[in-house]
Amino acid sequence: MHHPFQATNAYATEMDLKDPLNPFRKEFHFPQHQGKDVIYFCGNSLGLQPKNVANAFETELTTWKEMAVGGYFNGTNPWLYYQEYLKPALSRLVGAKEKEVSAMNGLTVNLHLLMLSFYKPTAKRFKIIMEAGAFPSDQYAVETLVRHFGLNPDEVIVEIHPKDGAKTLTTQQITETIKATGDELAMVLFGGINYYTGQFFDLASITKATHEAGAIAGFDLAHVTGNIPLALHDWNVDFAAWCSYKYLNAGPGATGGYFIHESHLDNPSMNRLAGWWGNEESTRL
Ligand SMILES: Cc1ncc(COP(=O)(O)O)c(C=O)c1O
Repeated sequence: MHHPFQATNAYATEMDLKDPLNPFRKEFHFPQHQGKDVIYFCGNSLGLQPKNVANAFETELTTWKEMAVGGYFNGTNPWLYYQEYLKPALSRLVGAKEKEVSAMNGLTVNLHLLMLSFYKPTAKRFKIIMEAGAFPSDQYAVETLVRHFGLNPDEVIVEIHPKDGAKTLTTQQITETIKATGDELAMVLFGGINYYTGQFFDLASITKATHEAGAIAGFDLAHVTGNIPLALHDWNVDFAAWCSYKYLNAGPGATGGYFIHESHLDNPSMNRLAGWWGNEESTRL
C-alpha cells in the first residue's frame, strides 16, 4: 500500500526498501564522511562512480598499451564501432529508434551542431522560444547562434516567465505562447527538466504545439536522460541532446548524446554538418 508522504526517517527507509532500483545502490562508490557513505544529492551535477568502471577503463588502457592503433580493429571492444555499442542503451533511455541516437562530443557542442542544422531563420520566421531561467550554457548557446546569423537576440528570443509569482510554467502558458508566436516561430529550445526548479516539461504537448505553428522543437535533456522515461520518437521531438555525467554516471567529461527524429534523417534540405563519422564505413576509411 502507498502511504502519503511523511517527513520522517521511517517513511524514507520504508520507501527505499520498496524501491525496485534499491539493489543498484551497491553498484556505486560513495564519498566517505566520518567513516560512512555520504547521502548524495548531487547526481544532477556529477553522478557517482559505478564500481565496475575501473575495470572497464583498465581493459581499454591495456588494449591501447598492447595494440596501439590495432585497438581500433582488434581490441576487446574494437574502438571503431563504439557508437554502435552505445546505440541500444541510448535508444531505450530516450525512447528512440537506434538510428535516431548516437554518442559524441559534449552537450553544448551538440546543441550548437543541432541548432545550426535545424534553425533556418527567414525574414518572417525567425523567433526562438525558451523557458526564462534556462541553464546558462543554453542561454549563451542560443544568443550566440542568433548573433551568428547576424540577428539581434532581443528581437529573436522569446522567454516564457512564470506568471503571478509562480515558480514554474504551466503547459498551457507554454503552448499559448507558441501559438501566439505562430508563423514567426522558427524553433523552440527548451530544457526537458529545468535545472533550477526541477519542473519536468510536457515535451509531447510542447512539440505538438510547435509543429502546429510550423516550427522545430528541440530539447536539452541534461536533467532527464537516465532520470525519467522518455518517448522522443513517439512524441515527434525533432532533436535533443544530453550529457552522460549526471544521471548516466559516465564520469566527468564523458561523451554526450543526441537524438534526431527519423523523419529528418534523409531530408535533403537538412543542413547536415558532416565529418567522416556518420558516413558509410566504406567511404570513411
Ligand atoms: C541543463 C544543462 N544544459 C547544459 C549544460 C552544460 O553542459 P556541458 O558543459 O556538458 O556542455 C548543463 C551542465 O550542467 C546543464 O545542466
